[in-house]
Amino acid sequence: MDIEFVSSGPVQADAAAAIAAPVFDGQVLSAAADAIDAATAGAISRALAGGRFAGAKGQILDIPAPHGVEAARVLLIGAGPRESFDALAAETLGAAAFQAVKVSGATSLELKLADLTSEQAAQAAFGVRLAAYRFDRYLTKEKPEKKPSVKEARIACADPEAAVADFAPLSALADAIVFARDLVSEPANVLYPEEFAHRVKMLEPLGLEVEILGEAEMTELGMGSLLGVGQGSARESQLAVMIWKGAADPDVAPIAFVGKGVCFDTGGISIKPADGMEDMKWDMGGAAAVAGVMHALAGRKAKVNAVGILGLVENMPDGNAIRPGDILTSMSGQTIEVINTDAEGRLVLADALWYCRTRFKPKAMVDLATLTGAMIIALGHDFAGLFSNNDTLAADLLAASAAEGENLWRMPLHAGYEKQIDSMAADVKNTGGRPAGSITAALFIQRFVDGSPWAHLDIAPVAWKKPSTVPTIPDGATGYGVRLLNRLVADVYEDKPA
Ligand code: BES
Ligand code: MN
Ligand code: ZN
Repeated sequence: MDIEFVSSGPVQADAAAAIAAPVFDGQVLSAAADAIDAATAGAISRALAGGRFAGAKGQILDIPAPHGVEAARVLLIGAGPRESFDALAAETLGAAAFQAVKVSGATSLELKLADLTSEQAAQAAFGVRLAAYRFDRYLTKEKPEKKPSVKEARIACADPEAAVADFAPLSALADAIVFARDLVSEPANVLYPEEFAHRVKMLEPLGLEVEILGEAEMTELGMGSLLGVGQGSARESQLAVMIWKGAADPDVAPIAFVGKGVCFDTGGISIKPADGMEDMKWDMGGAAAVAGVMHALAGRKAKVNAVGILGLVENMPDGNAIRPGDILTSMSGQTIEVINTDAEGRLVLADALWYCRTRFKPKAMVDLATLTGAMIIALGHDFAGLFSNNDTLAADLLAASAAEGENLWRMPLHAGYEKQIDSMAADVKNTGGRPAGSITAALFIQRFVDGSPWAHLDIAPVAWKKPSTVPTIPDGATGYGVRLLNRLVADVYEDKPA
């Protein structure tokens, strides 16, 4: 998708363009909508008078080839109340306009945003980028009429130069979200641990340092928990360590992100039912989000020190796989009784978090994981779950979540549930039964952070959406977490100008 910012000239475009102009709640026309109304001798006013379009967010009124304007069609995009129009509303506006015309046959989208600030115009362009995402790498026979026709967006605004500058960090963020969505979308025969590590290694030109640890190095470190999960797989387990040093002081402690990267989760010997098992190709959504946020920080040269740790494994049933009842020794020294080999994500995180804390001594650690089906039962698909041992970190994450529109709900991390994961045979067991399944999973992970500031995001509900409910997220991989963590860094951890 090519994006260009231009100054708001006359309303004429070209015969293959779709023009989109905002209308605010209560049929309040934007300057562009007004100008189109004048050029078409009142076509807009007549369309508004004869219909139910009020300008509410998400409403679209499509007017094909009105007389007096050179364009394939004119679209009025409901922008919601003028008073509360903000960055997220601008983003939704751009995304909704794109969704409305993407397969119309028009080859370009002309967004008329003279009423918006340059920041909002940039945010609308960001919305177009996110809405235009599509994973079509393996569609070899798709009919041309099913493919998007719109190839470029021109954003007409009051100050295009300022909008270009405002768009730079958002464009870096969009690149990172696309990177994460691609990882999540790839099938597990293509994206196995070594291939995932390789794709992350390829980000080094952005200025990241990337280290890849294989099974020999992890054995040396004593990561029996993570390695246990991967031991039934023909693919070698990997730990990817991504380091971004952007702070003025290179030695200041980093913020750390840790991701569950189970490239495929069959359940192992505690094998999952066949129905829907293909979804488990996206059981690496946490690692993809961490890779994505590191991409974003490097891409926009964030003034922060950050590390990203990805625990990359494949959970397979095999003659060499771990069994229920097996006892693993984690890098922390704690022993773990494996009750269910399908509770593997926490086993990966246990060692990844311990490694992260002991090596980097970070200011705080945030892990992301498609950890439990129980999280979907609790929250459906509209919220991810937040668990934290630190109220400040939790509040910072909730603020970032609200700012970015990636919903997050705090869950109790109450010690009363601990007894569910006490084991007779080892220090802890890897499942606590069905009641409060997401909470006991979080409590398990907490045993591997040794009291340091930490938050766990169970993103099983939101890593993949079908059907999707927002125009910025096409069906499939959402890239959830990238913008949330990018915002957390920007608002809380980045160096502030003195
Ligand atoms: N990857 C799954 C959780 C999951 C389920 C993510 C559905 C996305 C959609 C995880 O490894 C798992 O299998 N969890 C088990 C835990 C249980 C065995 C204690 C679960 O949720 O059933
Ligand atoms: Mn599992
Ligand atoms: Zn899993």
